[in-house]
Amino acid sequence: MSFLHDEWSRAAEKVELILAEALPAADAYPEVLHEAMRYSTLGGGKRLRALLVMGACAAVGGDVSRAAGLAAAVEMIHASSLIHDDLPCLDDDDLRRGKPTNHIVFGEAIAVLAGDALLTEAFAELARMPDKYGVSPEVTVRIVAELAQGAGSRGLLGGQAVDILSADQPCDEETLRYIHTHKTGALFRAALRSGALLGGAGAAELEALTRYAEWFGLAFQITDDILDAVGDAEQLGKRTGRDEYLGKQTYPRLYGLERSREMARECVRHCLEALQAFSDRAELLRELAGFVVQRSF
Ligand code: IPE
Ligand code: IPE
Ligand code: MG
Ligand code: MG
Ligand code: MG
Repeated sequence: MSFLHDEWSRAAEKVELILAEALPAADAYPEVLHEAMRYSTLGGGKRLRALLVMGACAAVGGDVSRAAGLAAAVEMIHASSLIHDDLPCLDDDDLRRGKPTNHIVFGEAIAVLAGDALLTEAFAELARMPDKYGVSPEVTVRIVAELAQGAGSRGLLGGQAVDILSADQPCDEETLRYIHTHKTGALFRAALRSGALLGGAGAAELEALTRYAEWFGLAFQITDDILDAVGDAEQLGKRTGRDEYLGKQTYPRLYGLERSREMARECVRHCLEALQAFSDRAELLRELAGFVVQRSF
């Protein structure tokens, strides 16, 4: 845990600095929009997606310092998705990362715009990778394609749409799995694949890290569901019991808590299997796989 802890705080600090610099200044006109973007991106969150970008880059022997802009861009996409996820027309949440949600502070209109602006700014940061980090234009274009696919209607947004449309409806296993692998899994997958591509992954490495990512995403969201049902709101920084209240399709709802816990642990076993051919350069990814189901926040 201390290895993970050290790596984690180093990566989080680095990403925080890059985000603070890459995002428009809070006093740049129109101030309220830029403040809203910074409010939901800086100073909070586990930075798990950033860490996975770096972990994937390290696992394939890449230079992790060149992945910092990519890690920041992924966190911007994530922050954009959280602002929109909390809106009254989606999950109607008023607390996130221990603070009032974006629309509570800035109003719905600005929250919608700030989410859009963050998603856009993420791609601007990716476009800066060749100049700022010496990433080749070819690799940059592949990464842009990965993240566009992961964030868009074939990925995260598709999952969010089905999540919303399925509330209080009959739901089968396949639909539930679609929701989780898309609303949450798709960005993890894109983060890991992008980190691997930036690090110069070969085809077999990319395939193995994709498998890791897919199981990781599912383990993460099953655990998110479990924590919504039985976790501690204080530690999570968000309200609990929301899924049941909103009639959301979750693993505990379909399979019960115990079976859900087992399924999350099975996912982690698959994560570790996917890393079998990797050296100790994949240690961070191995430790994160364990963390993701044991976490309480
Ligand atoms: C929350 O993600 C949204 C989901 C995909 C469930 P995280 O739990 O990673 O959020 P932060 O970044 O740590 O706040
Ligand atoms: C959200 O899933 C996934 C995205 C934000 C894309 P949830 O709605 O379960 O996330 P939380 O529980 O609000 O963080
Ligand atoms: Mg949601
Ligand atoms: Mg939500
Ligand atoms: Mg949730």
